[in-house]
Amino acid sequence: MIGCDEGAHTQARGRVQSMGPAFASAALALSEALNLPSSEADFVLQLGPEGLQLQELGPHAPGPLSVDFVHGPSAHRRLQGGGSGQMIAKAVGIQPGVRPDVLDATAGLGRDAFVLAQLGCNVRLIERHPVIAALLTDGLQRARLDPDVRPIIERMHLQTGDAIQLMNAWEGDPPQVIYVDPMFPHREKSSLVKKEMSMLRPLVGDDLDASTLLEAALKLATHRVVVKRPRKAPSVFGPKVGYVLEGKSSRFDIYPKRSLKP
Ligand SMILES: C[S@@+](CC[C@H](N)C(=O)[O-])C[C@H]1O[C@@H](n2cnc3c(N)ncnc32)[C@H](O)[C@@H]1O
Repeated sequence: MIGCDEGAHTQARGRVQSMGPAFASAALALSEALNLPSSEADFVLQLGPEGLQLQELGPHAPGPLSVDFVHGPSAHRRLQGGGSGQMIAKAVGIQPGVRPDVLDATAGLGRDAFVLAQLGCNVRLIERHPVIAALLTDGLQRARLDPDVRPIIERMHLQTGDAIQLMNAWEGDPPQVIYVDPMFPHREKSSLVKKEMSMLRPLVGDDLDASTLLEAALKLATHRVVVKRPRKAPSVFGPKVGYVLEGKSSRFDIYPKRSLKP
């Protein structure tokens, strides 16, 4: 069992590996911070010149996973993507003159939060799994070095912890919109993003406390809560969904509280 908050359901064991002498002391510090044993492991967190990457071990393990906002799918979406016409933008209420203050309570690899920050929203992110949070922290740090991406990253503020606890003990201005994308037990298809999500599953398990998360989000958000689900999955157990935006493989269940106005 790796070091993690009690809400995360994982049995995966890992260790940190330095990819060169220059990274040895940082790797050791990370290993201690994450409380990762150095012996038997199902995955390694490799720290090297390209940053931090997660490599599963075993004969059929897929290639390494890292968070990269500068290249790959995030960059493609940033440069070619649909701007404020994207469904996620509509789901959180982006419209002319409206860029809501969003809390992404299930940050994961930060892809959705990056899209919202790119569209101009200030996004607070919470991730409870320390290994995922370490990958995301590393991706955010590297992206800050890119002058084009840095302004987007400056709108993203990550906190490691359990969003249920943090939302229930919230102090200060509440977020207008809370975005929730819990893990859902289903078979993945083969696109890159889905492959990455399927690599997270052995670590984070299925988020079986999603209805408690929804309850806390509904108490805290001032304007709406948005839950991302696989298109055909049932809604998270709880109050009735207000309305739904449906895409090819995902769906957004929207729980409105107040309308967002310019
Ligand atoms: C499906 S992934 C989210 C993917 C994310 N939307 C993205 O674009 O990369 C779900 C993540 O939510 C995290 N999570 C689930 N419940 C949480 C909670 N109560 N507090 C914080 N993080 C949570 C899991 O650890 C996992 O990393």
